[in-house]
Amino acid sequence: MDAAERVRAIVAAHRAERGALLPVLHAVQAEFSCVDQEIVPLLAAELNLSRAEVHGVVSFYADFRAEPAGRTTVRLCRAEACQSVGAERLVAHAEQVLGIKLGQTTADGEVTLQQVFCLGNCALGPAAQVNGRLYGHLDPARLDTVLATETA
Ligand code: FES
Repeated sequence: MDAAERVRAIVAAHRAERGALLPVLHAVQAEFSCVDQEIVPLLAAELNLSRAEVHGVVSFYADFRAEPAGRTTVRLCRAEACQSVGAERLVAHAEQVLGIKLGQTTADGEVTLQQVFCLGNCALGPAAQVNGRLYGHLDPARLDTVLATETA
């Protein structure tokens, strides 16, 4: 099955759902590890939406990626509660040690660095989610330890 057929199968599985675009996009990302821009016209045609509508949703939600993520995904919280206890210092440290900016993936494909606005772990900030696991009370040294463990 080629990529277009896989996309059509995903759409067919969700077409009857109300507001099918979001579940379709999540399923596409699960299947291809990202929502490639080249898929947008096909999704628009299949769902009877404009390309602008599909593109707007893809670009609005930070969860959708245009390129495949690295093997490890680091999501740093930058919402208010975490900011008040050092989130920005943590972001600067992560960008420096990884050599990338938020939204980017390291050249070796190992780590994708993302920002997120609240992980529901506000009392334990600065918080991060790494490979789906929640971490709190992070500082640069503890983040280094988490990165070493999660990428081992
Ligand atoms: Fe960071 Fe809620 S503000 S987890």
